[in-house]
Amino acid sequence: MDIDRITFRILSGYIEKLCGLVLDDSKTYLIENRLSPLVESLGCKGMAELYQRAVQDSTHEIDRKIVDLITTPETAFFRDPQVFDALRYRIIPDVVDNKRGRGETSPNIRFWSAGCSTGQEVYSIAMACHEMLHHTGIEFSVLGTDISATNISKASAGIYSDAEVQKGLNQSQIETCFQRVAAGWKIRDELRSRATFKRLNLLESFAGIGRFDVVFCRNVSIYFSPDVKTALYQRIARVMMTDGFLVLGSAESLFEPQPLFKPKRHLRTLFYQRTRELP
Ligand SMILES: C[S@@+](CC[C@H](N)C(=O)[O-])C[C@H]1O[C@@H](n2cnc3c(N)ncnc32)[C@H](O)[C@@H]1O
Repeated sequence: MDIDRITFRILSGYIEKLCGLVLDDSKTYLIENRLSPLVESLGCKGMAELYQRAVQDSTHEIDRKIVDLITTPETAFFRDPQVFDALRYRIIPDVVDNKRGRGETSPNIRFWSAGCSTGQEVYSIAMACHEMLHHTGIEFSVLGTDISATNISKASAGIYSDAEVQKGLNQSQIETCFQRVAAGWKIRDELRSRATFKRLNLLESFAGIGRFDVVFCRNVSIYFSPDVKTALYQRIARVMMTDGFLVLGSAESLFEPQPLFKPKRHLRTLFYQRTRELP
């Protein structure tokens, strides 16, 4: 289904407003390929009518379908494994030390996986924490959020196919952390109970989600505009503990000098620590 230049510009501007994704002219094929099935299923004559219907739909159901089709849920357990080494051997010990330094006798570490897709990142954090903390009496919890309700519902069910668990986990991890069910492999209750999930658009308010010791926001903002990225990281800083840690994807960085964060390294992994109280 071909899309003319004007309709492409209108639809790509609409998508940027919905979820932050910037689609330049080289991405015409992406809109054509991914949204054509929706155009057909809604009985629209073309992309222009899809746009009109979406704008008029007060339930925002069409918006949700567009976002589901246009965003990429690509993920894996322990994606970029070196990040999880940084988590195990630098971030978790530093968070525990900082909390004990503040006089917290039974610390509870709060993680946020922002843009968690279908949940593999959330459960990988829970597995790494369980491994490091299970004899210590230190509690932890992981909030997973994503703009896509479809992703959140799969994450919350915690059931993965053979191919999904094999992407990032070895046989021993699969058998220790999951149980066989008819539909595949279900995350064990002990790990599932550490996680909560919520649909959240990162362009909208974070009210009510609380404050976090560690935020993972990986492979989400790659295609956001520089202004949207800067604003997002500043808003994330506001829901982090003063000395908390921010982990971005391997292709992402806080390019501009950000007084709120200072870069830290564990071997070749770069991550950030929040530096000071916000005004
Ligand atoms: C490529 S996946 C990354 C998943 C995981 N963080 C990882 O690195 O494996 C990107 C996720 O970001 C979500 N996303 C995109 N735009 C978003 C927005 N504005 N608010 C919240 N989530 C968003 C998508 O739905 C998708 O699940």
